[in-house]
Amino acid sequence: MTKRKILVTSALPYANAGLHLGHMLEQIQTDIWVRFQKMRGHQCYYVCADDTHGAPIMLAAEKQGISPEQLVESVRELHLADSRGFLIGHDNYYSTNSPENKAYAEQVYLALQADDKIAVRTIEQLFDPEKQMFLPDRFVKGECPKCGAQDQYGDNCEVCGATYNPTELKNPYSAVSGAKPVLKTSEHYFFRLGECVEFLKQWTTGSALRADGMQQAHLQPEALNKMNEWIAGGLQDWDISRDAPYFGFEIPNAPGKYFYVWLDAPIGYMASFKNLCDRQGLHFDDWFGAESDAEMYHFIGKDILYFHALFWPAMLKYAGLRVPSGVFAHGFLTVDGQKMSKSRGTFIQAKSYLDCGLDPEWMRYYMAAKLNGRIEDIDLNLSDFVARVNADLVGKFINIASRSAGFITKRFAGQLAADVADKAILAQLQAAAESLAAAYETREYARALRDIMALADVVNVYVDANKPWELAKQAGQDARLQEVCTVLINAFRLLSLYLKPVLPKLVAGVEAFLDIPPLVWSDADSLLLGKKINAYQHLMQRVDPALIDKLIEANIQNMQQINSDNLATQQFEPVAATIKIDDFSQLDLRVAQVLACQLVEGSDKLLQFTVDLGFEQRNIFSGIRKAYPEPDKLVGRKVIVVANLAERKMRFGVSQGMIICASGQDDSEGLFLLDVDQGAKPGMRIA
Ligand code: 2FM
Ligand code: ZN
Repeated sequence: MTKRKILVTSALPYANAGLHLGHMLEQIQTDIWVRFQKMRGHQCYYVCADDTHGAPIMLAAEKQGISPEQLVESVRELHLADSRGFLIGHDNYYSTNSPENKAYAEQVYLALQADDKIAVRTIEQLFDPEKQMFLPDRFVKGECPKCGAQDQYGDNCEVCGATYNPTELKNPYSAVSGAKPVLKTSEHYFFRLGECVEFLKQWTTGSALRADGMQQAHLQPEALNKMNEWIAGGLQDWDISRDAPYFGFEIPNAPGKYFYVWLDAPIGYMASFKNLCDRQGLHFDDWFGAESDAEMYHFIGKDILYFHALFWPAMLKYAGLRVPSGVFAHGFLTVDGQKMSKSRGTFIQAKSYLDCGLDPEWMRYYMAAKLNGRIEDIDLNLSDFVARVNADLVGKFINIASRSAGFITKRFAGQLAADVADKAILAQLQAAAESLAAAYETREYARALRDIMALADVVNVYVDANKPWELAKQAGQDARLQEVCTVLINAFRLLSLYLKPVLPKLVAGVEAFLDIPPLVWSDADSLLLGKKINAYQHLMQRVDPALIDKLIEANIQNMQQINSDNLATQQFEPVAATIKIDDFSQLDLRVAQVLACQLVEGSDKLLQFTVDLGFEQRNIFSGIRKAYPEPDKLVGRKVIVVANLAERKMRFGVSQGMIICASGQDDSEGLFLLDVDQGAKPGMRIA
């Protein structure tokens, strides 16, 4: 068989939280395919990484009081544990925040620029004047312009489903600081996707020639339909830059401009592979050069097709690199027919599944039993999960070994018969190898498992027809018993081989039990005869339905915990000792209007205010520069001043009072000037 060179990826998870079962669906789908290709003897690598950049990760880190690098590092450990727990065999799991990724992002960008595929344009965007940052759509909230629902995101309304621009929201506010966003212009860098149309028409409809002479369509038919719609609708140039502050890579020769996270994310596939190449002595250019004879496939969710089927091939093409051989999209995971829900406990974290003692291979089997090559949503029906795993894996498959292995050990000292007469049933199993391989190759795992279970049914009919437990009681039937059990062990071996991409750990146990080297696909051609095998140990438990209740309960509690952690992070100071009204009236608080405000030379904390108290003007120094870095913007607004505070002599002058602010336990939560309602005049007392 021709040996193929295959590079496989699954989507890079964002580095801001642990993985959930939706992520696992994709990684399991990919892992099964990769394990299958390796069993076929191909040179196949599966790389992935954490997707670490962007505003959400930067802000999440800030909220936790840590650096983005620290957040990304801690999440990496979670992701690795989740993937390992589900037996995902990544050949490399890397990070987009890596030197390799920086180098390739720059290389790709500079190549695109040299090919005149980068444009610079000034655009107007919502800007948070307090946080001093441009707001991504998801960080602007307000009232839906269509139905008026409150607290909707800047891109679409979760109540009426309308989509719109963030500038159309009514009463918008920044989800970061609560401030009212303002429109501000900035220069952005664009990838001229509009100029790639001819190439994209050809790539999306095309196919890759594999080393074995077969053609692989670049896209699934449903994906192609979608791309045709998008291409027909006209391709907009793609905004690939973001302004500081941003966690990412600065664009070469463009200070203060950063690559948008989606620019360097797919390049992370290259970075992860390069890192693997360097460790294993592979030649990166053989795989990524324009003339590469390797195949490259991306497993992704249907929601990110646009990036992978348009932007990514175009980026690669115009940067002079190889293009993908195929993009394999899957649908979403639903639980009990509905979108995963945090409140119902069906937003199931990978970690909680494992922590509850559920076997990862149960989930691998169940998901595989539902997956096919199309873009369809996959439903995890929890009662069907229990029934299917118990019936198929334990009732049909494991049953074959448990009916036969004990006799081989106890009655024949572990020795299989040297030959068997009932070869027909084994030949039937062996004959399925190529059609099962074709099902795996085309990601028709549901069909593969249906066919494998149909073969297991045939074997179970043989068990019932030959009843080894009765042969064992009959005198003079030893040879027949050994033969029947040898047939069953061989059937079990073949079924194990076919299930190995899905159940790698269980089948490693089978290999140990049979005392054989790791099974590969071509082992289907042979039988195991006259060989001594080890004593059988039970390979898989039945699913106890109580575990599912435990899982749901754990996820409900997880959510409650996360909610209360969020509350707990908002630390409040204890209320101060009780005072009398007379104590309060000693404090003279007045409304004041800011007449002038400026930075103080030599201080990075202070602002110098001139305020009008109605009856007089005062000079006040206030340590709020970090929260209000643009003092000009404060001129004209009203503030509240402690008017009877003793004057304080400072290095920069005398401060005649104090401007009061709201603040949290520490500066990280920000400082907020107080305002008064319309109509209040300078000099009015607050009481
Ligand atoms: O949608 C997501 O979760 C992205 N982090 C996927 C990135 S895939 C690739 F392009 F890096
Ligand atoms: Zn609405």
